[in-house]
Amino acid sequence: MTTPATTSPAGGSETATQRIAAGYATTAAAVTLGSVVVDTVADPTALVKIPLSMFNRHGLVAGATGTGKTKTLQVIAEQLSTAGVPVFIPDVKGDLTGLFAPGEPGDRTTQRAAETGDDWAPAAFPVEFLSLAGQGGAVPVRATIDSFGPILLSNVLGLNDTQESTLGLIFHWADQRTLPLLDLKDLRAVIMHLTSDEGKEDLRELGGVSKATAGVILRAVTNLDAQGGDAFFGEPELVVSDLIRLAPDGRGVISLLEVWKLQTRPVLFSTFLMWLLAELFEELPEVGDLDKPKLVFLFDEAHLLFADASKAFLQAVQQTVKLIRSKGVGVFFCTQMPTDVPGPVLSQLGARIQHALRAFTPDDQKALAATVKTYPITEDYKLSTALTSLGIGEAIVTVLSERGAPTPVAWTRVRAPRSLMAPAPANAVAAAVANSPLFATYGQAVDRQSAYEMLTARVAPTAAPGAAPVTIPTGTAPVPGTPSAPTVGADGWPSLVPEPYNPYLDEVPASVPAPVPSGQPRGQTGQGSGGLGEMLNNPVVTSFMKSLGTSLGGAMGRSVFGTRKRRR
Ligand SMILES: Nc1ncnc2c1ncn2[C@@H]1O[C@H](COP(=O)(O)OP(=O)(O)OP(=O)(O)O)[C@@H](O)[C@H]1O
Ligand SMILES: [Mg+2]
Repeated sequence: MTTPATTSPAGGSETATQRIAAGYATTAAAVTLGSVVVDTVADPTALVKIPLSMFNRHGLVAGATGTGKTKTLQVIAEQLSTAGVPVFIPDVKGDLTGLFAPGEPGDRTTQRAAETGDDWAPAAFPVEFLSLAGQGGAVPVRATIDSFGPILLSNVLGLNDTQESTLGLIFHWADQRTLPLLDLKDLRAVIMHLTSDEGKEDLRELGGVSKATAGVILRAVTNLDAQGGDAFFGEPELVVSDLIRLAPDGRGVISLLEVWKLQTRPVLFSTFLMWLLAELFEELPEVGDLDKPKLVFLFDEAHLLFADASKAFLQAVQQTVKLIRSKGVGVFFCTQMPTDVPGPVLSQLGARIQHALRAFTPDDQKALAATVKTYPITEDYKLSTALTSLGIGEAIVTVLSERGAPTPVAWTRVRAPRSLMAPAPANAVAAAVANSPLFATYGQAVDRQSAYEMLTARVAPTAAPGAAPVTIPTGTAPVPGTPSAPTVGADGWPSLVPEPYNPYLDEVPASVPAPVPSGQPRGQTGQGSGGLGEMLNNPVVTSFMKSLGTSLGGAMGRSVFGTRKRRR
């Protein structure tokens, strides 16, 4: 540590703070996190900044409970919004709705503003309130089973590796039969078919799928259904571009995912966030490094994501975080212990904002020692002591400078949020939801014809004699809510050749796609839209896909997470 301010000329500590702050100096747009503290004194002229251009190098916000992590996310979200950057942030404890209401002035805020060089004034921000399955009255967001894919769904269902492989094969079978898996009842119908007497042949064809394993998966699906998963899976599916919006005044919209009532299924929430990232990866064009990110994803309570996750899932998280950078998306993980985040992911996070750590147990001490090692060398602080002595709303910070080099380690007093540090009034939130343009799109669930209906129809008593099999004209988009069916072959199964209108496609194909040669996965054809095509040429991804081995079978047309590639 430097000489304490009390025993040295004032200039002594000022020099240290100014020297540290010089490493953060930038003329480009940046988020100002707070001011440098040396020997417990904050220097309001020594500012700690994260350049907007470096947000796509990702970051970590960590710290023990109550140390100020969520408030740090609030401060970051506010400044990004002001800079015209849309933000996505899950609201795990319900306290971030305060972003929507102006903060309350008070002595503590005034003092913190003075210490952090902040011309603090109360401000409210443009917030869109979303929720899984419409909890708490927010705009409901949903995803289809198909687009979740086998890896993410296995994570939600808590399946082991063998069961995950089996689920991959079940998806593959449904793919081959053009049976859309939109909601849980579709998946249940497919598994029930495969485990029924009638489905014996199909099960055998699939190979490697035991009836017992399929039964275990079926039970897991039924449990998820009972816990409210049925309301989340289905259509209309969230389109990720709806998260990348600006308010009329040019500020970035902050999409707040209200998940605090979803205690029974935290893994559904965390997996949904990963699905969003995978979707963003697929949908956004390659842009390289931008002056400011297109979207910043603040991932509070990220430990939920990694706990008990399968190897395939962890690999997919790692790949997505790595690859999404060039799509202009920044991801900040927020968790209590840095060790909650697997090493390969941690090593890709350019910014570290470490709030106070506790070192009560031997395990805590080990984690503390490990954390110290991840920081650049500093002579200004003794990190093992500093990390346990930080005050609330203070953090040990190092980020990447505009040039991409690690900035000096800075004990930082974080600025106070300008919005409310408590939940916004419920009636204000309700009014915002009612006026949301997204409510019209996502407010009502749509249950269109999919695997369940198709399988049920197949086993139902045959229609009136002479009734022709139902076909739908290719190239005609279904109106949401209007039942549609693919061509049904002589064997009663939807046929693949010629490929019928694919109900997964959101857009009408310009012409009927050529039949896919057998053995070639569908998703590998005709995707010129960057995303998957480029990704499949990426050696990192292909080796990853290979590492999935047979677990996904012919599902190479799926993305990094095995989510279905939609052609838009
Ligand atoms: N930057 C800040 N400015 C002013 N007050 C702060 C700041 N950071 C934290 N605080 C104070 O500390 C309290 C706890 O902060 P916060 O909720 O962010 O902690 P947390 O680390 O997210 O806790 P948990 O792990 O329980 O979610 C806040 O309610 C607020 O009173
Ligand atoms: Mg918190």
